[in-house]
Amino acid sequence: MTYKDESRIEVYGHGGDIETAEATFGRRAASFLDFSANINPLGPPADVITVLQESLPAVIRYPDPGHRRFKDLLSTRIGIARERLMAGNGAAECMALLLLGLSPKVVGVVDPCFSEYRELSFKFGADVRSITGHSGQDWRAGRDQVIELVQACDLLFLGQPNNPNGVQYDLDDIRAIAEAAERKKTWLVLDEAFIDFIPPEHRHTLLPELHRYRQTVIIRSMTKFYAIPGLRLGYTVGHPDVIRAMAAKQVSWSVNGLALLAGEACLGSGEAYERRTQELIRTQREQLAEGLRAAGFVVAPSEVNYLLVEVPYPWSAAAFQQELGTRGVLIRSCAMYPGLGPQHIRVAVKDAEANATLLAVVHEVMDGV
Ligand SMILES: Cc1ncc(COP(=O)(O)O)c(C=O)c1O
Repeated sequence: MTYKDESRIEVYGHGGDIETAEATFGRRAASFLDFSANINPLGPPADVITVLQESLPAVIRYPDPGHRRFKDLLSTRIGIARERLMAGNGAAECMALLLLGLSPKVVGVVDPCFSEYRELSFKFGADVRSITGHSGQDWRAGRDQVIELVQACDLLFLGQPNNPNGVQYDLDDIRAIAEAAERKKTWLVLDEAFIDFIPPEHRHTLLPELHRYRQTVIIRSMTKFYAIPGLRLGYTVGHPDVIRAMAAKQVSWSVNGLALLAGEACLGSGEAYERRTQELIRTQREQLAEGLRAAGFVVAPSEVNYLLVEVPYPWSAAAFQQELGTRGVLIRSCAMYPGLGPQHIRVAVKDAEANATLLAVVHEVMDGV
């Protein structure tokens, strides 16, 4: 059988594109089990759904353009002063506002990485300089290599943990990179979109010491951990001057009223939901990785809710995605990531039932059923 590369579903460069999947595989949207986007399998906290239902009549009002209640709650929750916080329409808008507000000429990225670092840089007129992580270091780049890149760019995006490989840099490495960024006056953007999936005691975050690094900015997403990608919400933590530069470029009301209310409910959802998510992801990730390895796949280590996987030869990511897609299971091809190859896919970690279905369908495909 031959497989066309153009059958892939990442026409917009991302997973989770159910419309394209419907058209490509000829199935109804609701019939897909989607492992191509990395969303908390528990769904949003129950309070968030209640708040959204009760708040629907409030859509007749404009949202607060200053995001004040959300920022007050966030400030208390993460222990950061309000003037160092900025809400965005997803982490993606925060990235765009950083590029618009700081106008870097050269942006640095470490491949493989989230495609928007490059895409947004090009959209806003910056050149991109890249280095590639090493497969032997779970696709991280070496500290010296990253510091060299800091010297060669005005702004550097670094995933912490990185997507698609799901691992963190050591905190000592991050500190050394942040210090190099201070000296060179390069902006260091730490993308912590997935860090909430890691239990607090295992997180390598610069957040508590961020005030020491004027050039370093942290971006976080609320869409993955709290399962609200359709609502859009993220935030930035940084020096007040950076926050002001970003705010000057933000379209008024870009963060909608329901997203702000949902965000407030997420922040109030409590430790039990967080712990339950982190524990579910840890146990399910181990089981899913084990099941995939037993089926002949190479699975890279991960600390979060997705796994970077190599399909066994002669399979390719495109062929595998197509075979699974026709059976109603969506996975992310990573063949188009600079630094990775035609064999690479990424799968989300979901709950036990969904993961068991994925493994069953994987076996079906491998056995040619
Ligand atoms: C590493 C990374 N950062 C940021 C984002 C964007 O997150 P948001 O949905 O909050 O815009 C994504 C989305 O896939 C991502 O993978």
